Amino acid sequence: MYNKTWRATGVALILSASMAFCLSAADGEKSLYQRLGGEPAVRAVAGGLVDAILADNRVNRWFAHAASSAANTAAYKAKLADFICQNTGGPCKYKGSDMVSAHTGRAVTGEAFDAVVEDLIGVLNHHKVPAKEKAELLGILGPLKSSIVQK
Ligand code: HEM
Repeated sequence: MYNKTWRATGVALILSASMAFCLSAADGEKSLYQRLGGEPAVRAVAGGLVDAILADNRVNRWFAHAASSAANTAAYKAKLADFICQNTGGPCKYKGSDMVSAHTGRAVTGEAFDAVVEDLIGVLNHHKVPAKEKAELLGILGPLKSSIVQK
C-alpha cells in the first residue's frame, strides 16, 4: 500500500517536473514577437503608439507630416509596426530608412525621446503586456536613443 502510494507520487513528480521543463523550454524558444501576440498585437501597439504620439503636445509638432492625412498616418503606423515586428524576431521586412537616416535633420531632443517612450509604456500597459515582454521591448528600443537624438 505504502509502496504503491510512494511509487505513484514519484511518477507524478517526475511527470510534472518534465512537463514544467518542456513548457519552460518551449516558452524560451518563443520570440518576443510571438510572446507579444504576433502580428495583430504588434500592429495594435504600433498603431496605439502613433495615436498617442499625435495626441501628445510634447512631441506632436515633430509629426506634422504623419498627421497631415489618414494615408500618411496609416503609412507611418505600418512602418513602425514592421520595424517593431522585425526587431522582435517576427517575419516582417522593414523597408524604411535606418534609424540614423530616418531622424537626421529632425532635431529630436532627449526629452522628446523620453516622452515617446512614456507614450509607449502607456500603450503597453493599456494592452496588458506582461512586465517581462515590456522590459524586453524597451530594452530593444531604448538603446536607439543615441541614433535618434542627434546632437
Ligand atoms: C524608439 C523610438 C523610435 C523609433 C523606434 C522610431 C522609428 C521610426 C521609424 C521606423 C520611422 C519611419 C522611417 C521611414 O519612413 O523610413 C520613423 C520616422 C519618424 N520619426 Fe521616429 N522613431 C522613434 C522615435 C522618434 C522620436 C522621439 C521622434 C521625435 C520626437 C521621432 C520622429 C520621427 C519623425 C518625424 C518621422 C517621420 C514620420 C513621417 O513623416 O512619416 N521618432 N521613426
